[in-house]
Amino acid sequence: MEVLVAPGPEQAAERAAAAVLDGLARAAGPAPVLGLATGSSPLGLYRALGRAVAQGRADFADTHGVALDEYVGLPPGHPEGYRQVLLREVCSVVGLAPERLAVPDGSVADLDALERAAADYEARIAALGGVDVQILGIGANGHLGFNEPGSALASRTRVKRLSARTRRDNARFFPGADDVPTHCLTQGLGTILDARRLVLVATGDGKADAVAAALEGPLTASVPASVLQWHPDTVVCLDEDAAAGLRNRQYYDDSAAGLPES
Ligand code: F6R
Repeated sequence: MEVLVAPGPEQAAERAAAAVLDGLARAAGPAPVLGLATGSSPLGLYRALGRAVAQGRADFADTHGVALDEYVGLPPGHPEGYRQVLLREVCSVVGLAPERLAVPDGSVADLDALERAAADYEARIAALGGVDVQILGIGANGHLGFNEPGSALASRTRVKRLSARTRRDNARFFPGADDVPTHCLTQGLGTILDARRLVLVATGDGKADAVAAALEGPLTASVPASVLQWHPDTVVCLDEDAAAGLRNRQYYDDSAAGLPES
């Protein structure tokens, strides 16, 4: 696990963008697959990728985008549904083609249909050859995707109930807390672990406890993001505030400095 601590959120976003581009450059197939998180954490990273495109350092024309999760019960086209969010905040920013964006279908009405949508989504990811780089944020309660505390470490894409904390945290995107959907479809922790590289970005002191528990606490379903410790290629990009609870900070900084000059 590589833990990179930057002075502020913009520098953390730049480092995360570099880690994403580096991971995509190693993609084996002709069309790389990028896993996309929503929420506030990756917005600076998406803007940094947009700048890389504008400067000719990156090109997402052939890239497939794969969403991490989607709310259940929002009608197609709802502005806070993650398809619309990703069209606005990723496709139009980095030039990823809308027809290459895959999002689980949470608009279907009953549990059977949702379970089929979850299975279809797993099949879609497999047909693309798996995810090359998965971008992630972390919930203040340690969730990853919408895998809330208690999620099975080997879980696959499925319907999950959102915790009261997550619904409160996401109320800022809706007219009121009661308008936040109660359920979602989310890639499972096992699905996320199948991605060839994970890039987590977290900024602000509201994430410090969750980051410390995920990176330095035990691997446990109580802190779903602790599965990052299990993955062979995880890059964690933090600002100083989000890194405030880390005990092994000096080691991370020393490691990031690389080999001594000979
Ligand atoms: C988003 C997602 C969530 C968020 C997390 C942090 O697709 O799956 O895990 O990454 O809730 O959200 P922000 O970044 O808004 O604090």
